[in-house]
Amino acid sequence: MNEQVQGANQGAGGDPLFNPLSPDFIRDPYPHYDRLRTIDPIHVTPFGQFVASRHADVSLVMRDKRFGKDFVERSKRRYGPNIMEEPVFRNLGHTMLQADPPDHTRLRGLVVKAFTARRVEDMRPRIQEIVDQTLDAMIDRGHMDLIGDFAFRLPVTIICDMLGIPEEHREAFHKGSSDGVRILDPVPMTPDEIKQGNARNLMAQMYFQQLFELRRRNPGDDLITQLVQAEEDGNKLTNEELTANIMLLFVAGHETTVNLIGNGLLALHRNPDQLALLKARPELMAGAIEEFLRYDSSVQMTGRVALEDIDDLGGVKIPKGETVLCLLGSANRDPAVYPDRPDRLDVTRPNVKPLSFGGGIHFCLGAQLARIEAEIAIATLLRRLPDLRIDDIENPEWRATFVLRGLKRLPASWRARA
Ligand code: HEM
Repeated sequence: MNEQVQGANQGAGGDPLFNPLSPDFIRDPYPHYDRLRTIDPIHVTPFGQFVASRHADVSLVMRDKRFGKDFVERSKRRYGPNIMEEPVFRNLGHTMLQADPPDHTRLRGLVVKAFTARRVEDMRPRIQEIVDQTLDAMIDRGHMDLIGDFAFRLPVTIICDMLGIPEEHREAFHKGSSDGVRILDPVPMTPDEIKQGNARNLMAQMYFQQLFELRRRNPGDDLITQLVQAEEDGNKLTNEELTANIMLLFVAGHETTVNLIGNGLLALHRNPDQLALLKARPELMAGAIEEFLRYDSSVQMTGRVALEDIDDLGGVKIPKGETVLCLLGSANRDPAVYPDRPDRLDVTRPNVKPLSFGGGIHFCLGAQLARIEAEIAIATLLRRLPDLRIDDIENPEWRATFVLRGLKRLPASWRARA
C-alpha cells in the first residue's frame, strides 16, 4: 500500500507523538513539540519520515549541503511512480522552492533583485497607503474580521503590484485565499484533495498564460514582464518554470504574511501586558515582529532529503533518500536557545533569531518584505484603533493546514467613530 492510501485511511498513521492534522495539534502544537523535543527529538513517523524538533538539528539540516529537496523522487516514494503526472505536483516541482542546484541557483537568480533590502525599503510608503486605505474603509463600522478584512488585503495588493497584475483582475484575488497549500503538509493528500488541487492549479495556469501573453505585447515595469523576457531570451527559463515560479511568488507572497499579521495580533491580544507595552513604546515594533515570528510562526515546517547516508543527526542515522521534517515552530521554542520561558510572548526578548524564514540556500526571498508589511500593518492598527478588542480570544478558528499555520477569521470590534 503506498503512502497516499495509508494517509487517507489513517491520518498520521496513529502516531501518538506527531499527528499534525489532528484538531488538538492544529489548535496548539506547542505542547506536542515540547514532548517531541524532550522524549524523541529525532522521531520516526509511521511513514518512515524523520522529524527533527530541536533547534540545533533543524538549523543544521536546512544549511547542510548533504541535504536537498529531491522533490521528484521524494514525491514518487510518497505517492507512487505516476505522481508527477498530476498537474499540481508537476507545477510545484518546477518552483525554486523545490529545486536543487544548479536549477535552484538559476531560478532564484532571476528574481532575487526584486527583493533586495533597498527595493523593499522603498515600498514603505505604498504599504502604509494600502493599510491606511483599508482602515479608512472600515473605521466607522466598529467591527471587522482581522484576517479577511485587514491582514489579507495588504500582502495580496503588494504581490499584485510586484507581479503587475492589472487592477481590473485583482478583485478575484482579494476574495479569499486558496486551500491548495495542503500539498506542503507531511500527511499525504487524499485522491480527492489532489483532484481539487489539480483543478485550482489548471485554472491559475490558464489565467497566468493569458497574462504572460498580455505582457509580451505590453511590457511593464514588473516581475512578470521581467520573467517573460527571460523566457524569450532562450534557455534561462522554460514556460513551465515561468508559470510555476510566478504562482509560487503569488502564494508565498501572501498566505504566509497574512498569518504573520493574524497570529501576531492574536498573540498580542492574549498578552495584554505586551499589548500595552507596544502601544506605549511603538519603537519596539521591529523587535516585536521577530518575537511574533518566533512565538507562533506562520510556517511551521519544511523538509529536506538526505542526499547521502548521514551518520549522526542528533544521535540517529539517516539513510540516503530519507526525508527529514524540520519543525521550525518547535525550534523557535527550544529552551536550549531561548532559556527564558520560551512559551511566553516577550516583545523585548533579546537575541531573537527565529527560524521561521528557513535557512541555507532556500532562505525566504520575501523575509524583509514580510517583516515590513507586518510592522506597518500592526503599528498602524494599534495607533488608529487603540480600543480594538478581539471578540473570541479563547477559541479562534484555525485553518486545517499544518505547515502554513493561520486563522480562518479573527472578528474584532471597537467603538465606531462618529
Ligand atoms: C521560502 C517562510 C513571506 C517568497 C521560504 C521558506 C520559508 C518561508 C520557511 C523556506 C522553505 C524551505 O526551506 O523549504 C516565510 C514566512 C513569510 C514569508 C514565515 C511571512 C511571514 C514571503 C513573501 C514572499 C516569499 C512575502 C514573496 C513575496 C518565498 C520564496 C521562497 C520562500 C520565493 C523560496 C526561496 C527558495 O527556495 O530559494 N519562505 N515566507 N515569502 N519564500 Fe517565504
